[in-house]
Amino acid sequence: MATLLLLPGDGIGPEVCAEVRRVAAALVPSLVVEEAIYGGASYDAHGTPLTDEVRDRALASDAVLMGAVGGPNWADAPRHLRPEAGLLNLRKAMNVYANLRPAYCFEALAGASSLKTELVSGLDIMFVRELVGGVYFGEPRGIDVLPDGQKKGYDTALYTTSEIERAGRVAFELARGRKNKVHSAEKSNVMESGLLWKQVITELHAREYPDVELEHILADNCAMQLVRAPKQFDVIVTDNLFGDILSDAAAMLTGSLGMLPSAAIGDPNKPGLYEPIHGSAPDIAGKGLANPLAAILSFEMALRWSLKEVEAADRLLAAVKGALDAGARTRDLGGELSTVQMGDAVLCRI
Ligand code: NAI
Ligand code: MG
Repeated sequence: MATLLLLPGDGIGPEVCAEVRRVAAALVPSLVVEEAIYGGASYDAHGTPLTDEVRDRALASDAVLMGAVGGPNWADAPRHLRPEAGLLNLRKAMNVYANLRPAYCFEALAGASSLKTELVSGLDIMFVRELVGGVYFGEPRGIDVLPDGQKKGYDTALYTTSEIERAGRVAFELARGRKNKVHSAEKSNVMESGLLWKQVITELHAREYPDVELEHILADNCAMQLVRAPKQFDVIVTDNLFGDILSDAAAMLTGSLGMLPSAAIGDPNKPGLYEPIHGSAPDIAGKGLANPLAAILSFEMALRWSLKEVEAADRLLAAVKGALDAGARTRDLGGELSTVQMGDAVLCRI
């Protein structure tokens, strides 16, 4: 039997994860849903945001779904013990190297976009952001003092062939189940690591995925195109830094932070890590105002990617669409529903 480990975390995390629990019980009764303490709550109880025990349970499960971590209560904790450090440690321990971030427009919300409705209606982009390499991790890095007293800060943008290949593979595989089109975004015009990125993706494509349409695009042009005509894209694969920025910008074309899920996946035989994009929202925590759809849609991604319950994932997506079509809205979407009422609106359509 498959196991989902829920890590509700802090702030609104427990509120939105409670709705995931209800949805999971209704949709996949055979799924074993466990829960563990993590983030600021774990720091308070055990002096660390991620205990070895919870890390090992995460590695032994089939999928992990997190709520959110952090908040003002832990602002003074040492950096390596902050709730956010627990998140980075967990990603690293699970070696989830590809971050999947959909920018998907629900028809019922198309009018709420900052772009014209016709530009976003039907929008469906999937980002594959390389998550454990690049300039965020490359060595050397540091801030040094120069002989004249000035300082110099530097980072290293570094990728190996295998790191690029595995991210590219995820993108090409994904595209085959979608519109069969991949854009690879880099800055090969000014960066050596970008030049290697382009070469490796080109070779991988020719060798293993000639049936998929591939286009190379410079990352700055990609940013322009995303706000000019976003529907030209299907799958976009890019490095850690560009992926961070481009996927954030694209996600906001389509709606509220409370709607946006994400997945971090790695080895197909290892668990993936699923989480809403939003944080712990201390300003609304405990008030029953949080939109649970980002967490519920993260569960939908877990069903599809890690739990291999594609039919259940399709049913869940249809239930969310149905709820939105019927006008279900939490406050962030301009409505009045509470967290639990939005959960009900989805549940009654499962
Ligand atoms: P945030 O995402 O928690 O909140 C930003 C704004 O969006 C707030 O006004 C909040 O009320 C609203 N919001 C967020 N999620 C919502 C939802 N589901 N429904 C309705 N409204 C929602 O970002 P913020 O305020 O910058 O960070 C708060 C804390 O969360 C910080 O400690 C930060 O480090 C942490 N954080 C954690 C993340 C994670 O666990 N992956 C990601 C981002 C932030
Ligand atoms: Mg970001």
